[in-house]
Amino acid sequence: TNEIIYDRLSRPLRDLRISVMDRCNFRCSYCMPKEIFGKDYVFMKENELLTFEEIFRVAKQVASLGVNKLRITGGEPLLRKNVDLLVKDLYTIDGITDIALTTNGVLLPKFATALKAAGLDRVNVSLDALNPLVFQEMSGRNTTAETVLKGIEAAQEAGLGVKVNMVVKRGVNEEEVVPLARYCKDHNIPLRFIEFMDVGQTNGWNYSKVVSKKELYKQVETIAPLEAVEENYFGEVASRYRYQDSLAEVGFISSVTETFCGTCTRARISADGKLFTCLFSESGTDFKTDLRTGISDKALKAKLTSVWEQRSDRYSELRTEESSKLRKKIEMSYIGG
Ligand code: GTP
Ligand code: 5AD
Ligand code: SF4
Ligand code: SF4
Repeated sequence: TNEIIYDRLSRPLRDLRISVMDRCNFRCSYCMPKEIFGKDYVFMKENELLTFEEIFRVAKQVASLGVNKLRITGGEPLLRKNVDLLVKDLYTIDGITDIALTTNGVLLPKFATALKAAGLDRVNVSLDALNPLVFQEMSGRNTTAETVLKGIEAAQEAGLGVKVNMVVKRGVNEEEVVPLARYCKDHNIPLRFIEFMDVGQTNGWNYSKVVSKKELYKQVETIAPLEAVEENYFGEVASRYRYQDSLAEVGFISSVTETFCGTCTRARISADGKLFTCLFSESGTDFKTDLRTGISDKALKAKLTSVWEQRSDRYSELRTEESSKLRKKIEMSYIGG
């Protein structure tokens, strides 16, 4: 039977977010701005990426420590070759009840069926605009929302659960809030609005570019009145609402204006095997070297336990514009959203 471990603020370890790739085929301005992530940017080398066997070993140990939810992220996780085979491995782990993947959706028509067959439960798809020009500005790519919508359809046809994530940046895609909310409501796809966060060092974040949950809520309410919905799991990141005139739901991920560190049960592992106990960590704990020099399962479990038990992160609660500038944060594409 699985034990439960707690950090210094009494938070249990429940989820592991696994980054499998630091590269992406998009260049979203809030995540991998193309001025920085250009031709000369140095990504991880192939042999630096944890193998599926190595990821499996870590996942198995965290599951024995109370993790029941795994999320595969990146960069763009579908750029990792045969990622469905990883899902297949993870699916066999005792205690794992939910395997999800966060993607920009473009490659879903190619992989959705295989992912579902491998045991994936659901996908969260990023989509920041329907308008072609705004979509290009947000994603940094010359494609349109259609390519993402096709991915969403493919995932639904394959039987995967689908949610849409929309990051809102003031003055860039605010006008898309209502159109995207309408679209998702009409198609009964849960949409979550995400406050623009100060992850990494390169996305030019400041408070003035954050559209708050409160403002977003006001805009969405113009479509139909909303009522709050019970949380799906302890410490759910999004606060969710239902439209009173339909079964469709919307959510808000307000990590700037209404923080949720108090119930944060997430650890993250980067594609090169560093464990981070916060999205805004300045450094992580290396596991790759241990994995490649024959660490035993028992020692692996002890090291994972020790990292979690030392954890006291609550960055979002402490954030100020000043501290945000001073901190040397890891890029989101590295740490895995
Ligand atoms: P589910 O609720 O299980 O569907 O997933 P999720 O919302 O946790 O995952 P997803 O990858 O879709 O992330 C949505 C947004 O929430 C992203 O912008 C994440 O960076 C953000 N997010 C997820 N976990 C945390 C967290 O622990 N802290 C902060 N600040 N943001 C988070
Ligand atoms: N602020 C908020 N959300 C972000 N994401 C990436 N960078 C940021 C940021 N700076 C989101 C993506 C994706 C999820 C994994 O993280 O849009 O939906
Ligand atoms: Fe790629 Fe997702 Fe980052 Fe956009 S937010 S650049 S799709 S990893
Ligand atoms: Fe968790 Fe850090 Fe996000 Fe707070 S800021 S919710 S501690 S990942």
